[in-house]
Amino acid sequence: MGHSFIDAIAKRRSYYHLSDSKIVDDSTIIALVDKLLLTMPTPFNVQSTRIVLLFDEQHREFWHLLMGILRNMLSPERFEQSSRKIESAFMSGCGTILFYEDGEALDNMRRKFPLYAKNVDTWSEHSSAMFQFAIWTALEDIGYGASLQHYNPLVDNAVAERWLISHKWRLIAQMPFGTPLDIPTERLQRSSPLKRRIVFGEEP
Ligand SMILES: Cc1cc2nc3c(=O)[nH]c(=O)nc-3n(C[C@H](O)[C@H](O)[C@H](O)COP(=O)(O)O)c2cc1C
Repeated sequence: MGHSFIDAIAKRRSYYHLSDSKIVDDSTIIALVDKLLLTMPTPFNVQSTRIVLLFDEQHREFWHLLMGILRNMLSPERFEQSSRKIESAFMSGCGTILFYEDGEALDNMRRKFPLYAKNVDTWSEHSSAMFQFAIWTALEDIGYGASLQHYNPLVDNAVAERWLISHKWRLIAQMPFGTPLDIPTERLQRSSPLKRRIVFGEEP
């Protein structure tokens, strides 16, 4: 196993101060997502993950949409606070990746493999998480910074209407990315791996 893969994983962080300057062409990001869609493992090859890429104006529109929803829900003070964060941490970047899971593909899997039907929802979350992690790490490897957000199900209907997304697709997470404007603070302390792993049969 090459060390660069582990290094990229260890380097990945959450970035909350982004600019919209581009490090690579958008087509590079699209190609990267396509490569992962063609190679990531999925249970029984169900391929239920769906990705929506929003760049530039479309990306900013997503966050405007969310702010419109929050404006009707929050007190003026809390809205002010939230919108400031959304503008500087998410909207200020150059793109947002939306992670969906396709309910139709999952229903087919339930029908085809009734023995495993009760596992399907859990496996669907696992599949999405693998994509989220892979794309997050790959974006950082290119030089972008990203974070993982969960404004679903708040935005689901508005987004489905605006971008004509099938109502069978379930929104799982949103990943705004852009050029990082600062270095993240030190990682929160992790408990020792010695407390979190057990080894049997190690060669002397
Ligand atoms: C499953 C999962 C859900 C997360 N949800 C959010 C979220 O909704 N908003 C957010 O800002 N960060 C979210 N995060 C990011 C974590 O807060 C972050 O990864 C953690 O604090 C460690 O910081 P780091 O990413 O810089 O290493 C999530 C991370 C994971 C793995």
